[in-house]
Amino acid sequence: MAAIPTEPRHVAVIMDGNGRWARHRGLPRSAGHQAGLEAAREIVRQAPQHGIQILSLFAFSSENWLRPKTEVHALIRLFGQALEQEIDRLVQNGIQIQFIGDRSGFPGRLQAAMLNAETVSGDGKRLKLVIAVGYGGRWDLCQAARMLVRRVRDGTLPEDRIDETEFETCLATGGLPDPDLFIRTGGERRISNFLLWNLAYSELYFSDTLWPDFTVAHFEEALNDYRGRQRRFGRTPGQVRCGRQA
Ligand code: FPP
Repeated sequence: MAAIPTEPRHVAVIMDGNGRWARHRGLPRSAGHQAGLEAAREIVRQAPQHGIQILSLFAFSSENWLRPKTEVHALIRLFGQALEQEIDRLVQNGIQIQFIGDRSGFPGRLQAAMLNAETVSGDGKRLKLVIAVGYGGRWDLCQAARMLVRRVRDGTLPEDRIDETEFETCLATGGLPDPDLFIRTGGERRISNFLLWNLAYSELYFSDTLWPDFTVAHFEEALNDYRGRQRRFGRTPGQVRCGRQA
């Protein structure tokens, strides 16, 4: 296990600050989300060049349903338009899309577009783009627990075989490596119910920059900061320096 990480394989991002960005300009919040989409596009474009294999973006949390109806509708419209406009380019660029979260609250047309995007981008090898929509870390833990109970009840999983590896397979993120680096923009220092299980040993990076202003230079700053971290995974600094496993 490397003491000093080089490039993160998996980066997870909370793209916060769209609303404030819009307010500062006297614009509606939806304009902030539109600008946020442009920022996301640029980071997605750059990610593979930095050796990133998986980029997870928190686009809509399970709690975001509580926002004013007009904002929720604007976000749903934006997701639909973005998928329609971007899907060909994403596929051409080898980007595989995976949505995580409870999609049941979204309009059928959008759910179908998400499924289609996952299908047509399935062979993408340059980058896996994980988009969390209707997602909450607690929701994911609950649905994983339900799945495990079902498997125990139907006899396919002995109860004493439930361990971290088995639990992980039941998460929406099952099979994905944990994020190495978590970035949150917009000045708040919290995880806000994103990837609760997966962020256990991620390096956390907080930026005061509002998401629509978060450029590739800011992204590179975060990657640079990550390169200076010592990842210990519970070991002592001495053990990590010697590269000892135990
Ligand atoms: C948080 O900022 C942002 C959101 C809830 C929406 C994020 C959506 C996008 C960036 C556009 C779509 C992106 C993809 C990848 C489909 P906020 O509204 O909480 O901002 P505030 O804290 O300033 O109010």
